[in-house]
Amino acid sequence: MKAMFQDKPRAFPKTCVDGKAMKSLMQALLDRRATQHFKPDSVPEEYLEAILQFAGQAPSGYNLQPWRFIVVREKENRERLMKAAFNQQKISEAPVMVIFYAIKDDWKNYIDAIFQEGARRGVGKPEMVPQIKQQASNFLEKMVPQAIWVNRHTMIAFTAMMLVAESYGLDTAPMEGFDPVAVGKEFGIPGNAEVVALLAIGFGKEPDKTYGGRFALSEIVSEEHFGRPWKSDGKSADKSSREMFEEIQRKAKTDLQPA
Ligand SMILES: Cc1cc2nc3c(=O)[nH]c(=O)nc-3n(C[C@H](O)[C@H](O)[C@H](O)COP(=O)(O)O)c2cc1C
Repeated sequence: MKAMFQDKPRAFPKTCVDGKAMKSLMQALLDRRATQHFKPDSVPEEYLEAILQFAGQAPSGYNLQPWRFIVVREKENRERLMKAAFNQQKISEAPVMVIFYAIKDDWKNYIDAIFQEGARRGVGKPEMVPQIKQQASNFLEKMVPQAIWVNRHTMIAFTAMMLVAESYGLDTAPMEGFDPVAVGKEFGIPGNAEVVALLAIGFGKEPDKTYGGRFALSEIVSEEHFGRPWKSDGKSADKSSREMFEEIQRKAKTDLQPA
C-alpha cells in the first residue's frame, strides 16, 4: 500500500546538474529570471524528483498542504497544454511542465489524517487534536474563501519549486497566462479545483533576459503602520533605484529625439 506521508527528503543531488556547486538561496533569488526559450535537453530524473520533493516541503496553514502537481513531459501533452495557454511557445519547448492545482474543500477529506500524523510525530498533544480540528474547520469554512486559500498556499510550493530548480542550475518560466477551464478539461482536473499556475523547467536556450528592476524598499515596506515610511538604512536601495529610473528617463528622451 502506498504511504500517505513521508519523512523529510534525505537523498537528493548535492550539486548542480553540470556538477558545479549548488547556488545558495540568496544567489538563486538574485539569478532567477523568467526564461523565454528552452533547449530540448531533458531534466535528469533525480533532479526532477528532488525539485518535487522540496516543493512538497513548503509550509501551509494547519499543515494542510492543498497543492497538487501534474508533471507533463510527453511532447504531445505539452502541445495540448500550450494550446490551453495562449500558445506560449516555451511550453512545447521546455522538457518539463508542471501544472499546479488544488481542489477546493478537499482538506475536509484529509484533515483527520494530517492531524493524526502530526500527533504521532509529536506535534502538540493528541488530546488537543479535536479542538484544533474544530478551530481549523471554523477558519476554513467561515473566514477565507476556498479559492483564495488554495491559491495562497499553492503559490508557496510553486515558489519553492522555482527556487530549488534555480539552485540546481536549471531555468524556469512561471506562467499565469492560460485558460484554467481548458487546462482542467485537457488534463482531467476535477471541476471543483483551482488551476493555479504553470511552471516550465529546463535549460534556457539563450542567456538570461535582462533584469527588469524591482521596487525600492521604501515603496514596499512601511514601519509599524500603513503609510509610515520605512526609515532603516534602505537609503542605498532608494538611491540606486532613483538612479535607475533617471537613467531610463534620460534614455527615453534620447530615444525620442528626432534623428
Ligand atoms: C505567477 C507568475 C505568472 C507569470 N506568467 C507569465 C506568463 O504567462 N507568460 C510569461 O511570458 N511570463 C509570465 N511571468 C513572468 C513575469 O513576466 C516575470 O517573472 C517578470 O517580468 C519578472 O521578470 P523575472 O522573473 O525575469 O525577474 C509570470 C511570472 C509569475 C511570477
